[in-house]
Amino acid sequence: MPAAASPAFLTFQSHLMHDSNHVAVIDFGSQYTQLIVRRVRELGFFAKLHAIEDFPDIGKPGAIILSGGPRSTSEPDAPDLDFEALKAFNVPVLGVCYGMQLLNIKFGGTVEASDRREYGPANLFPTECKGLYEGVSASSQVWMSHSDTVKVLPEGAGVIARNQHGTPVSLQWNERFFGIQFHPEVTHSHEGLRILHNFLLHASNLLPFRIDDFKREIIDGIREKVGNKQIVCGVSGGVDSTVLAVLLHEAGANVRAIFVDHGLMRKDEGEEVRSNFHRMGVPIETIDASERFLTALDGVDDPEKKRVIIGNLFIDVFWDAVGDAEMLAQGTLYPDVIESASNAKSKASKIKTHHNRVDRILELQAQGKVLEPLAELFKDEVRALGTSLGIPHDILQRHPFPGPGLAVRCPGVVTEDRLRIIRECDAIFIGKLKEHGWYDRVWQAYAGLIPVKTVGVKGDERSYEWAISLRAVVSEDAMTADWVDLPYQLLRETSHRILNEVKGINRVLYDVSTKPPASIEWE
Ligand code: XMP
Repeated sequence: MPAAASPAFLTFQSHLMHDSNHVAVIDFGSQYTQLIVRRVRELGFFAKLHAIEDFPDIGKPGAIILSGGPRSTSEPDAPDLDFEALKAFNVPVLGVCYGMQLLNIKFGGTVEASDRREYGPANLFPTECKGLYEGVSASSQVWMSHSDTVKVLPEGAGVIARNQHGTPVSLQWNERFFGIQFHPEVTHSHEGLRILHNFLLHASNLLPFRIDDFKREIIDGIREKVGNKQIVCGVSGGVDSTVLAVLLHEAGANVRAIFVDHGLMRKDEGEEVRSNFHRMGVPIETIDASERFLTALDGVDDPEKKRVIIGNLFIDVFWDAVGDAEMLAQGTLYPDVIESASNAKSKASKIKTHHNRVDRILELQAQGKVLEPLAELFKDEVRALGTSLGIPHDILQRHPFPGPGLAVRCPGVVTEDRLRIIRECDAIFIGKLKEHGWYDRVWQAYAGLIPVKTVGVKGDERSYEWAISLRAVVSEDAMTADWVDLPYQLLRETSHRILNEVKGINRVLYDVSTKPPASIEWE
C-alpha cells in the first residue's frame, strides 16, 4: 500500500533522531495503541507510533511492538506486514492481540475466527516465572478485548501463559518473538507494565526517553523550520498553549503570542494570564473581545449554539489580529493527533475541532506552515517539558479550562450577572481547595450555575434565588471521571462564604455524579 503524504507536523518531527533504537509500535488500529507508546515512555524508553502503511520504513528500532486492532486476520484485506522485513530487523518483537494472531499465522500456525467477543477481565497464569513473566504473580488480572483466538501453534512455539479456562493467552515462537492476547498497557491489566518491561529487557541499547533531550531537539527543529519567518500562536493561559509559546520564545523565533479574552474567563483570569506571561518574560498581545462575545451570545440558551457562536467568533477575532503571519503554531498533543485507528495516517491530520473549520489553517497546513511541536507528547510529558523550560509549577498545574469558558458552566442564557455569580463562587471554591491542599489533588474543579430559583431566608427576609453547584473530579484523561470525596470542612467553609458573600445565591450543592453518565462540564 503506498504511504500517504505525511502531514506537516510529521515532516516537522521527521528530522529528529528517534529513529535509532526506539521502540517502534506498529499501529493495527486498537483503541489502546497510543497507551502502549505512553507506557513504554513511562518505563523510560523512547517509543514512537508508526502507521502500518509505513512498515518497514520505521528507521532502526531497538524493539518492535505490533498493536492490537479491530479487524480479523481472516478478513481478505486484513492489515498485514512484511514478515521477512520484520525478521530482518533482528530485534525483539511483541505481538499484542491482533499482533499476536498475525505472528502466529506468519510462523505457520492458525487463528480461529469467532463471533464471540471476550471483553474485560480475565486471569493470567504464566506457565513459568521467567522471560516475559519474570516476577509476575502466579495469577493476576489482565484485560481482554478480542474475538479471534489462536488455534494451531506452529512447531517450536510454546505457550507461556494461559487464562482461567486453560486457553493459551501468551506465546513465544523463538527467543525474540513473543505474543500476548491481553492488553498490558491498560491499568486493568494489573501487572501489564512489568510484562512490558520484561519484554523490553530483551532489547539492547534502547534510546532512553529524557524530556531535556527532547526539548533540545524540538527547539532545534523549530529553528530549522521557522528561520526568520513570523509565527503566530494563540495562548489561553492553559498548559499546552503556554508551553508552546515559551518553547517558541526559547527557540528565539519571531513569534506573536495572541491572547483573545472572550469575556468568559474566570475571576481576574485575563489579568492572571498576562501577569504569568510577564513573569516568564514572554510578551503576549491581548485582544479584549468580551463585548463582541457577549453580544453574540445575547439570548442564546442552546448549549450547542453557544459553542458554535463562541468557536466561530474566536476564529474571526484571532485571524483578524493575525493579519499576514507566515506560520501558525498550535499546541496539539499526541492524543489529539492519533485517534488510534488503523488508518492512523489519515486520522493523524485531525486537529482541534474548532480550528479545523478554518480554511486558512487547512491552507497553511497544506503548505507545511502549521507547526505542532508538542504533537508527540502526552499531557504529563508536556508538563515535564514545561518544568524543563522553567515554567512555574502553579502555571503547569492549572486545571483544564474549556475553550468556551464559563458559557458551558452557565446553563441557559449567558448574562453579565450570571457570569459574575459563577466567577465569585468559583474563586471562593478554588481558593478553599488551595488553602486545604486539595487543588493539585483533583483533575478539575469549578462552580456551575443552576439557574433555578428556590426559596430561602436571608436575614429576616424570604429569598428567592439561584443555586450553585460545586464540582471536583479526578480523571486520567477526561474520558471518565469520578467525583472527589472532599473533606466536609472544606465544603462547609466554601458554602458558608458563598452564601454570605455572593449576591443571588441561596443554595450550594455538591455534584456527586460520575462520568459517565454525567459529563465533567455542565453543558
Ligand atoms: P466533558 O464535559 O466532555 O469534558 O466531560 C471533558 C474535558 O474537556 C473539557 N471541555 C472542553 N474543552 N472545548 C474545550 O476546549 C470545549 O468545548 C470543551 N468541553 C469540555 C472539560 O473542561 C474537561 O476537561
